[in-house]
Amino acid sequence: MRSFSSRLVSWQRRYGRHDLPWQGADAYRVWLSEIMLQQTQVITVIPYFQRFVASFPTLAVLAAASEEQVLTHWSGLGYYARGRNLHRAAQIIVGTYGGEFPRKFEQILMLPGIGRSTAAAICALAHHERRAILDGNVKRLIARYAGIAGWTGDGEVEKKLWQIAEELLPRHEIARYIQAQMDLGAKLCTRSSPKCGECPVSADCVAFQSGRVSELPSPRPRKVMPERQSTFLLLMSGRDILLEKRAPKGIWGGMWCPPELFDGLVDESDYVHRCGIDISERITLARFNHSFTHFKMNIIPVLLRVKNKPDLALQNGCMWIDMEQALHGAIPTPVRKMLKSIHSSGE
Ligand code: ADE
Repeated sequence: MRSFSSRLVSWQRRYGRHDLPWQGADAYRVWLSEIMLQQTQVITVIPYFQRFVASFPTLAVLAAASEEQVLTHWSGLGYYARGRNLHRAAQIIVGTYGGEFPRKFEQILMLPGIGRSTAAAICALAHHERRAILDGNVKRLIARYAGIAGWTGDGEVEKKLWQIAEELLPRHEIARYIQAQMDLGAKLCTRSSPKCGECPVSADCVAFQSGRVSELPSPRPRKVMPERQSTFLLLMSGRDILLEKRAPKGIWGGMWCPPELFDGLVDESDYVHRCGIDISERITLARFNHSFTHFKMNIIPVLLRVKNKPDLALQNGCMWIDMEQALHGAIPTPVRKMLKSIHSSGE
């Protein structure tokens, strides 16, 4: 039987993806795509990637941009630390490497936001270096092919998977092989409906041969997802809404959000009094949930029509901004959802 890698490479040539906008591109674009693809699917990433490189065609342009501009382009992709780290990394590359994307694995690994698998993917895809990767798709593929039980986030399991990934590496056509793993993981070896009948490595896939495809990889040990309740104050004056720029840390660091009352506080009177705002109308809008990797946020939007518009400006990072303009800014997805619901209901 031909090797695992040569079967994957032949399959990729015939059935894999060949027209992704970052394929065959320079290291800067490969890096950008890998960061965007860390938590987000290809189909979502493509238009973001295209807008991003149109606005920031080179590393130097990206490094010189403001964080606000970068986060505006990231708005809707989620996990905004990725965007902030990308921007910081661009500035480091300009400062340390004269704007040339570093060539060595160790140098790439040192940049913020880049782990072992991402650094390896950049080296393999942009420079055809012989490196193993281990992202979510590849973990699933190898866990099944080699019959490795246990949660793939566990340190010991991960160590084993890295070792197998290294052993399976081909000598040639490394970039195509890496792409083949990603494509196979996305198209055939999917989590819930794998197409083993079409798979080029099913003949010696341990999971398939032993009827354990649906059991592998083992799921993450069950942990109750913590829930947090948050009330957002949508303070509206005509078409203007009050937004605050978040401090740089945290899930929405650097993004613009309506004032938030944490931990289930539903009474906004303290906040409103402190700011010297007078309310003319109060409407509690429909609640909704937004899931993060480690917790679920139960969102209660409260629409507050105001009589006056005190200038809270930049003293605490607040501004009154036209709704239409806010929708084009650096706002996270649930905030976009709240703004759109007011916008479309004509409230
Ligand atoms: N996921 C992560 N990197 C990818 C790539 N280069 N192509 C497709 N999916 C990916």
